[in-house]
Amino acid sequence: MKKILITGGAGFIGSHVVRLFVNKYPNYQIVNLDKLTYAGNLNNIKDLENKANYSFVKGDIVDADFISNLFATHKFDAVVHLAAESHVDRSISNPLEFVMTNVIGTVNLLNAAKTNWKDDYSSHRFYHVSTDEVYGTLGETGMFTETTAYDPHSPYSASKASSDHFVRAYHDTYGMDAVISNCSNNYGSHHFPEKLIPLSIHNIKNNKSIPIYGKGENIRDWLWVEDHARAIDVIFHTAKTGTTFNIGGHNEWTNIDLIHLLCKIMDKKLNRSEGESAKLITFVKDRAGHDLRYAIDSSKLQKELGWVPSLQFEEGLEKTVDWYLSNEDWLNNVTSGDYKKYYEQQYTKR
Ligand code: NAD
Ligand code: DAU
Repeated sequence: MKKILITGGAGFIGSHVVRLFVNKYPNYQIVNLDKLTYAGNLNNIKDLENKANYSFVKGDIVDADFISNLFATHKFDAVVHLAAESHVDRSISNPLEFVMTNVIGTVNLLNAAKTNWKDDYSSHRFYHVSTDEVYGTLGETGMFTETTAYDPHSPYSASKASSDHFVRAYHDTYGMDAVISNCSNNYGSHHFPEKLIPLSIHNIKNNKSIPIYGKGENIRDWLWVEDHARAIDVIFHTAKTGTTFNIGGHNEWTNIDLIHLLCKIMDKKLNRSEGESAKLITFVKDRAGHDLRYAIDSSKLQKELGWVPSLQFEEGLEKTVDWYLSNEDWLNNVTSGDYKKYYEQQYTKR
């Protein structure tokens, strides 16, 4: 019997992690803590609402007293920490929000864990979910390994790098059992449509322009979100304390090639003639400080813990498109209200 706090479980990746843990481990009690920001959505985990081993708590990790009380009440055995501000463009216009949630929020969780676990770190674990963006950017060759030096460029990646350092500091200084994983770009269902793939699906469907930053030559390394959740499961249960694992699918795409593939799939799904969706591609002003290329070497995870990605990108992208086309209500719900304001601010000035 284990009681596990998962933070950010109403978001994109968190909802997949919560689902996997609740369904795979009926003997665990999963407490999902989420502030329900614009990115958090209880509809993402509606199927779990009535499960006996699941409960939801609305709250803010920046509120130290609230976090301290939550730990005192629940006596968690472990934490899987995903709650974060996650969008690079938003971090460029509002860095402080990222410092608050990603840095202060993480330290609040670490402090509460320390207070409650300090007499017995060996039976507790703090798992911190991080990103490959902490490593900075690559040129045309090479890959990020677990020993690549941190070199973050955006306020988002700087805040994630800082939180990683704090997690390591609590392991090295206090002896807390902590593990970290750094993953590449995820894609799949329930992805908020401010990010490249869901935003493009939404725009193509509505015959709106697809905004590509710069020349579309930046490269990202895409991983099916359920494969990320499976990796988190394996690392959480089997990694040695104090270790770090890179997670990625060896699946690099330039943004423009990815969007052409997506347009081809959308043409087929929407019964459009070939090439029709691609006419919506519009090159817009580049993102400030835009990292050129990410590529993850996940061989340590594959060799030491036996994890392998399960899905080819073309198949995963088609499944993703199918999910968005058959979940119109979800998409309409999250793109009403504040989303429209964000979209105007972010894209009309470009
Ligand atoms: P997301 O933005 O979809 O979800 C974040 C969740 O955190 C939301 O449900 C939100 O309500 C919640 N949250 C935000 N601030 C909070 C606060 N102060 N207190 C409590 N809850 C709060 O993000 P995501 O894409 O699912 O990313 C989840 C984690 O994985 C993040 O830590 C991110 O850095 C990391 N990550 C993401 C990717 C990716 O491709 N999306 C890749 C690697 C790592
Ligand atoms: O690498 C992991 C990271 O991947 C995560 O840590 C972040 O939380 C997640 O948001 C993601 O960051 P990116 O900045 O890579 O994702 P995004 O979908 O915003 O952008 C992907 C690429 O597409 C990037 O090169 C910028 C470009 N882009 C993005 C948007 C939103 C466009 O060309 N046009 C757009 O409108």
